[in-house]
Amino acid sequence: MSQPASYNSPVFSLEQLASLTAVLEGAKQRGFLGPGPVGNHIEHALPILTLVAEDSREALDLGSGGGVPGLVLALARPGIHWTLLDGSVTRSRFLQNAVQDLDLSRRVKVTALRAEEAARSALRGSFDTVTARSFGAPAVTAECGSPFLAKGGRLIVAEPPEGAPSRWPPKGLEQLGMVPGVRVTSPSTFQVLEQVVPCADRYPRRTGIPAKRPLF
Ligand SMILES: C[S@@+](CC[C@H](N)C(=O)[O-])C[C@H]1O[C@@H](n2cnc3c(N)ncnc32)[C@H](O)[C@@H]1O
Repeated sequence: MSQPASYNSPVFSLEQLASLTAVLEGAKQRGFLGPGPVGNHIEHALPILTLVAEDSREALDLGSGGGVPGLVLALARPGIHWTLLDGSVTRSRFLQNAVQDLDLSRRVKVTALRAEEAARSALRGSFDTVTARSFGAPAVTAECGSPFLAKGGRLIVAEPPEGAPSRWPPKGLEQLGMVPGVRVTSPSTFQVLEQVVPCADRYPRRTGIPAKRPLF
């Protein structure tokens, strides 16, 4: 087994941290996780917990890939059911094994579907929290994430270091029933988008169109 990440976290037991580190090392080896030590990915994901509503019960990780932030958050905060969504069958298979390895099967499920299709299923409007890291351009993330949220829900987006608040224009978000919410910039930058009214039925548009013809 690989060495646990050096991250000194009070939110995990040593055993959990060792298992999570091993899972994410596996993701890295397969090219499902970006550069840098696994511990940095865990550290980057954890502050999202401060933005998740206290009473959140149903969360979806959009484009979960190697499991960041979804697996990290699911392990760190019991009491929330998670859906890890990814359009790649290979990555979804990896995620399914990871969920079993981390003993999270009772409250974490994996859905191997494109967001544009999954948002037309029973998953639509079923979540109070959606997270997204490196999913796509702002308009794509918003159009693919918004339909999963119930009214009052939050989309929490991990922002690139150089990202500016202007990436999230209120007029563009309005089409999806969203408004910009809190933005935190330390230790990393995260933008919250609030779903103030349910997303209109016409969104998301069909597979590939959100990226091909971005709303804003
Ligand atoms: C760059 S990776 C980021 C993975 C992970 N969130 C992270 O930050 O390490 C983007 C992931 O989103 C998935 N993805 C991209 N577009 C998608 C879509 N429209 N529906 C579902 N999954 C999608 C890809 O398969 C990929 O696993």
